[in-house]
Amino acid sequence: MGPMKAGFFVALVFLFFLPIFFIFTFGQVPDTPVAAQPEAIGVTLRQLAQKRNLQIGAAVNIGPLLNNPNYQQVLAREFNVVVPENAMKFETIHPQRDRFLFQELDTMLNFAEANQMELRLHPLVWDEQLPAWLVRGNFSREELMDILKEHIQTIIKRYRGKSRYIDVVNEGIARDGSLRDTIWLRGIGPEYIDLSFIWAHEADPAAKLFFNEFSAEELSIKSDAVYDLVAGMLKRGVPIHGVGMQMHKGLHNKPKMAEVAKNVARLNQLGLEVQITEMDVAIKGAVGETQLQEQAQIYGETMRMCLEAAKCSAVILWGFSDRYTWMTSLIGEGGSPLIFDEFFRPKPAYQALKEELLRN
Ligand code: G3I
Repeated sequence: MGPMKAGFFVALVFLFFLPIFFIFTFGQVPDTPVAAQPEAIGVTLRQLAQKRNLQIGAAVNIGPLLNNPNYQQVLAREFNVVVPENAMKFETIHPQRDRFLFQELDTMLNFAEANQMELRLHPLVWDEQLPAWLVRGNFSREELMDILKEHIQTIIKRYRGKSRYIDVVNEGIARDGSLRDTIWLRGIGPEYIDLSFIWAHEADPAAKLFFNEFSAEELSIKSDAVYDLVAGMLKRGVPIHGVGMQMHKGLHNKPKMAEVAKNVARLNQLGLEVQITEMDVAIKGAVGETQLQEQAQIYGETMRMCLEAAKCSAVILWGFSDRYTWMTSLIGEGGSPLIFDEFFRPKPAYQALKEELLRN
């Protein structure tokens, strides 16, 4: 074999093994840099949202934020709010009783600031992703109160003045409308919710404090319970400023938008702000043009509902590219729930959000 032929052969072998190398190393095929080029995009979601004074955000995953330039580029181009998907979970940020680890959240803040975006803090008080020291600690009521107060105030004080919106209590209501059975309810009692908001407000009086809930977007026993809870808090003078509606939906579970609008309206009438905080729309099974159009319609209708509401100040998605979504682990397949595909190409859902933002 001559040197030309040998070179050709080596190149062939290289090209053949490159994708295999990527799959073994990163678990995925490499994404195409071409897909993230802004020329094909025109006006961005972020530019359109800004004109309407709407926050448009995405939950952010630390891995691709550090390692994937396409991810960084699309995030900064299309969104003006960064939400830590996992960086502020108790086990990550407070892994030992006397030790906080702010590195991941600081990275997100730096990214946000460098790109004139906001950081939304999520979540302070939740029953998932708790460290073993806390779960197995057998703490007394007083100890648990000390721990929770310190957790809340240490995090808020560090980001005081740098984050306007905070999910203080996350997922505190059960499906039947009772208070969710959590480590905080068992250990402290129902007053843990009021206390958390009071401690948060003490740490940053200027921050807008939210109660964030899933499957409470429509009218139901659960959303009635959220309404009663926050109405009661306002009556008691507890500093709460808004309710987060997560909006994890699917083609099998479409939102009844008229009910969502009524629910938002009644919360607004209490004087509370509402935000869509974790939207995604799962497609179970085959993903074809029909499914993508149905998905787009749900995104579009949600955006319209928010724009038409008296006080719905944000539409935040739980990720933005189908390449990185929590659903991969949940339903075994991707669910393709977001507005960019795995190669960061805009899907019909992206166009649907834009159309609603462009509508008069
Ligand atoms: O970090 C560990 C890693 O060390 C380990 O090897 C791996 C093995 O499973 O797990 C990794 O932790 C995972 C973590 O995400 C970080 O990727 C957990 O297993 C996994 O359970 C965890 O899931 C997160 C979930 O909250 C926890 O309940 C999702 O990424 C995150 O998107 C999701 O976010 C929540 C919101 O905060 C609240 N509302 C619902 C929403 C979706 O569930």
